[in-house]
Amino acid sequence: MTNRSSGAKRLSLSQQAHEILKKIINEKDAVIDATCGNGYDSLFLSRQVSPLGCVYSFDIQSMAIDATYRRLQEANALAPLKLIRAGHEQMLDHIRQEDCGKIKAVMFNLGYLPHSDKQVITTSKTTLMALNSAKSILADSAIMTILVYSGHEGGFDESQAVQRWCAQLSEEFEVDVLQSIRASAVTPQLFVVRYTASNSKPTLDR
Ligand SMILES: C[S@@+](CC[C@H](N)C(=O)[O-])C[C@H]1O[C@@H](n2cnc3c(N)ncnc32)[C@H](O)[C@@H]1O
Repeated sequence: MTNRSSGAKRLSLSQQAHEILKKIINEKDAVIDATCGNGYDSLFLSRQVSPLGCVYSFDIQSMAIDATYRRLQEANALAPLKLIRAGHEQMLDHIRQEDCGKIKAVMFNLGYLPHSDKQVITTSKTTLMALNSAKSILADSAIMTILVYSGHEGGFDESQAVQRWCAQLSEEFEVDVLQSIRASAVTPQLFVVRYTASNSKPTLDR
């Protein structure tokens, strides 16, 4: 796992996630927004794959589903969107069979929906379930971005759980951790997980 500071370009971690994903997403790709919230990441993903690809967007709150729908409708970007009101830990029940193994990008933006009920938050248990599900359906050269916040109740434990999950990944996965130059115990961190199938160790024929 490599740690990097992100002060130089003055982009937010969320914008940096977009810049990283832009380079690898193609117009026919299937991608996932695991926490659609106010729809900013879904809109970004839709713009990368519209109209030929597919964006699966998950959230447990109807407020978030509505906000995401409105944002993409106003931007005329609804074409590739599959909005799913369900926990991301159930994602395998919702991804089409033909997209399994072909998911090019997965975005997790953890925590709570800004300006709403701060009790409705992602949790370590369901986040780890979702990360394992997402990992199992990636395309070769896919990237998962995981933006974690430690400042709210449960956030520190969740960020530690994500860090441990990243640390135990096999050699097909490379992980970078980006954080702001003024990092502290509660500043957000962006985990960038790159999957390269050919990095797996060859089996030895005897
Ligand atoms: C920080 S917000 C996401 C922001 C969003 N990506 C955007 O671009 O506006 C976190 C979201 O995670 C959602 N959430 C919490 N638990 C979840 C779960 N188990 N599955 C999916 N979404 C969940 C919350 O309802 C909230 O909307």
